[in-house]
Amino acid sequence: MGKEVKAAMLVGGFGTRLRPLTVTTPKPMLPLVNIPFLEIELLHLKQYGVDEVILSTGYLPAVFDEYFGDGSRLGIKLVHVTEDEPLGTCGAIKNVAEFLGSEPVIVCNGDILTDLDIGALVSYHNEKSASVTITLTPVEDPTAYGLVPLDENGHIKEFLEKPSWDQVVTNLINAGTYVMDPAVLDDVPPGENYSFERQLFPDLLKEGRPMFGFPCDCYWLDLGTPEKYLAAHHDILSGEIHVDMKGERRPDDIIAGEGASVDATAHLHGPVLMGEGVTIGAHARVLPNTCLGRGVTVGTEARVEGSVVLDGTTIGDRSIVEQSILGRDMVLGSDCHVADCSVLGDNIVSGAENEFRKGIRVWPSTNIEDGRIKF
Ligand code: GDD
Ligand code: MG
Repeated sequence: MGKEVKAAMLVGGFGTRLRPLTVTTPKPMLPLVNIPFLEIELLHLKQYGVDEVILSTGYLPAVFDEYFGDGSRLGIKLVHVTEDEPLGTCGAIKNVAEFLGSEPVIVCNGDILTDLDIGALVSYHNEKSASVTITLTPVEDPTAYGLVPLDENGHIKEFLEKPSWDQVVTNLINAGTYVMDPAVLDDVPPGENYSFERQLFPDLLKEGRPMFGFPCDCYWLDLGTPEKYLAAHHDILSGEIHVDMKGERRPDDIIAGEGASVDATAHLHGPVLMGEGVTIGAHARVLPNTCLGRGVTVGTEARVEGSVVLDGTTIGDRSIVEQSILGRDMVLGSDCHVADCSVLGDNIVSGAENEFRKGIRVWPSTNIEDGRIKF
């Protein structure tokens, strides 16, 4: 990109749709292939010469600070700014304006997994002398996003946040990564809840400011829901997007962290990632698109498939976990069955013979007796 660029990242949301995982961990700090998601995002920015990132936190801010501190471990200067109450996407960036300087800055939603070429985005913004350039990505259902139709010159014509189907005139949506001239924030009222998508962007368009869309055909995923959280794992494990995973490469597309111990009678079928100190019991099966966190134990004859199991959790003998998510430090008893994108929170203790299906979500630290949950 030539010279260094600053970025501001929005990480203050409650991550409501990812509960119960986000009851204890803010969405950007949830592990993806055993690495806090935000670390993957920060290293992606760094790759393009971003050397300073302002984190706009709100919900559970200490979790960010404890893990990253001033960012020196990652080689990026991190500034943490915490809101007392949610200021909305634009209000949150207005709130950190004093750290942005006067050159174009990158602004990112903190829940996007992408391999976007940020260098090309910044060059496009500068070439066009734009006030704001919005990265766009095609999606099948634009109604969950911000719809951004363009004219033939790449100018943004309209900004329609969460449109209804009858408003859908393009499949291009706001991909949540912008380059902006910080001066566009000058007239935003300080300390007030204010939205880029519903307020500032439509207002700038009305004023006739040059706003451009930058359609990209990069990998793009908004990590908003349990389905997307699993999809992100599948896509990384299958190599659709590259993320550096820690561990030893073994045959059959298995990556094993230090001290991982697999019984000789267990069957592993990759892609599978095992964190440090994972233990796989006799005749257990760990099947494609599974990510096991540090210290996870899979019991005798248990089966785990297409699932994410966070650090420190134990899966009992003969239990089955399919296309689901288990939180940290959980104990799943023997002969349980977890399926259909169900999500169990941190520190749950489940007795034997429980069934968790149909996307059921169980709050952290719940204790469930044997055979209490059936479908
Ligand atoms: N600091 C702060 N304060 N951060 C916030 C606040 C706030 O009040 N509200 C939301 N955020 C952060 C969230 O943590 C998240 O990283 C990001 O802003 C976007 O919020 P979401 O709640 O995930 O929004 P969305 O996914 O419904 O829609 C947004 O992203 C889409 C792309 O994924 C919009 O920008 C859409 O236009 C866009 O298409
Ligand atoms: Mg989102």
